[in-house]
Amino acid sequence: MDQNINLEIKLPKVPEIELVAIEGLEKMGKYLGIPEDKIGEARIVVTEAVINALEHTGDSNPYVKVEFEMTKERLIILVTDSGKGFNPDEIEEPDIKKKIDSTNKRGWGIKLMKSMSDDLIIESKPTGTKISIIKNLS
Ligand SMILES: Nc1ncnc2c1ncn2[C@@H]1O[C@H](COP(=O)(O)OP(=O)(O)OP(=O)(O)O)[C@@H](O)[C@H]1O
Ligand SMILES: [Mg+2]
Repeated sequence: MDQNINLEIKLPKVPEIELVAIEGLEKMGKYLGIPEDKIGEARIVVTEAVINALEHTGDSNPYVKVEFEMTKERLIILVTDSGKGFNPDEIEEPDIKKKIDSTNKRGWGIKLMKSMSDDLIIESKPTGTKISIIKNLS
């Protein structure tokens, strides 16, 4: 049976705190011998998911929960915030041609996360958002 490592962190809304989640990811990856390229992609996914959650989580509970479950084969990342939520269906796909002339250059996070993971599910309601990401590591 493959070893299964779990890490659960509650991050306060503090600048650069996403690096704490990244540090944990890297330590687990190294321990299990996960290839550098896979961890590099997972690092980008975690950074984008955690920054979104920190940006949107509510002032009444200014924390974000990050959960990892890692085996040699697969990484599951769950990021939960207490923000107002959003409707993912209403988020427009970013288009590089339009972005060049736009003053708002943002809007790439979700697209980037999708491109570097194998499954991404967003569950959002007015009391918060949970994003679940699966990334194959082998
Ligand atoms: N956790 C969240 N809670 C509420 N709204 C969210 C959350 N995550 C994403 N969104 C909404 O989805 C939009 C798109 O997110 P995405 O990460 O793709 O882009 P961005 O955060 O606006 O910009 P970038 O990630 O490029 O800096 C956000 O602008 C926001 O409206
Ligand atoms: Mg973002």
